[in-house]
Amino acid sequence: MEKVLEQIESYKKEIEALAVKGAKELEEYRIKFLGTKGIVKALMGEMKNVASEQKKQFGQVLNEFKQYAEEKYEEWKNITANGQPSTASDIDLTLPGDPIAVGSRHPISLMRNHIVSIFQRLGFAVAEGPEIEDDWHNFGALNLDENHPARDMQDTFYIHTNPDWLLRTHTSNIQIREMEKGKLPIRIVCPGRVYRNETISARSHCYFHQVEGLYIDENVSFADLKQTLYFFVQEMYGKDVKVRFRPSYFPFTEPSAEMDVSCFICGGEGCNICKHTGWVEILGCGMVHPKVLENCGIDSNKYTGFAFGMGVERPALLKYGINDIRLFSENDVRFLKQFTSAT
Ligand code: DAH
Repeated sequence: MEKVLEQIESYKKEIEALAVKGAKELEEYRIKFLGTKGIVKALMGEMKNVASEQKKQFGQVLNEFKQYAEEKYEEWKNITANGQPSTASDIDLTLPGDPIAVGSRHPISLMRNHIVSIFQRLGFAVAEGPEIEDDWHNFGALNLDENHPARDMQDTFYIHTNPDWLLRTHTSNIQIREMEKGKLPIRIVCPGRVYRNETISARSHCYFHQVEGLYIDENVSFADLKQTLYFFVQEMYGKDVKVRFRPSYFPFTEPSAEMDVSCFICGGEGCNICKHTGWVEILGCGMVHPKVLENCGIDSNKYTGFAFGMGVERPALLKYGINDIRLFSENDVRFLKQFTSAT
């Protein structure tokens, strides 16, 4: 075997010394080294004469030589074809690749997911519904009759081709759609975008986001509502936060309340955010009105439930110290990429 190895070494030197420039020389080289009756083939034939314990080593040397001879052929082929050495051999495959730019989550999505995940830990499932809604699901079923004064509370975008259609003004339409399905008990949170015909400014926008909650079962009480929301605010704003419920009015709940938390910016001392009251309003809630249950075909003598609804923009503004709600919808990547977490 020694002899064959020496021979390979000398073939290698021969190739090294070559400077193939023309197509004819290249073809001669190919035939001599790589052709069916060429040197590489012949050397392969030597394999059978090598002692079996040396086959491995011989195979390796031969393979390297074959590769070398082929690479040289490709290199010269390129030079003769383009007059240029192949750039392929200049590529450094060990260099790290270009990083793939991954986007970041929108701050509203981060806050919405955070809110939703707290309720998911309590066993609430996520439900969604249409943003283009009919009058019944957005207003009628929720006890907002045609002439109900509460309808003035919401400035609505109607679809001009069909006045029965509108852009939902709250995510409460999802409550109705879930209750209509008739599968009880119901324990859901409903995140989504809502629309109101308001002038766009730093503090308000014509669309924003809400998370609504609904729990319907036998024997659901106001105490359950309070305990659920206590858990929520402690997870959201910390164990030390204080809570107060103020009586309020929503046509779809009775009794209704609004919930405030002690200002998490100043700790209740009084600041601009809480308008020096020490309290920040975060949501509306109440016991689902029996009429709403009946509107959805649920027996209000057997079942009771609570509901709540909150905005996503406000906690996001406060959390991230943002002072203009319009930034959320301008899609300026420099703004958007700053946010990584809502916790
Ligand atoms: N739908 C109300 C709004 O958009 C928010 C709300 C209040 C939802 C009380 C509720 C609730 O489910 O019980 O202002």
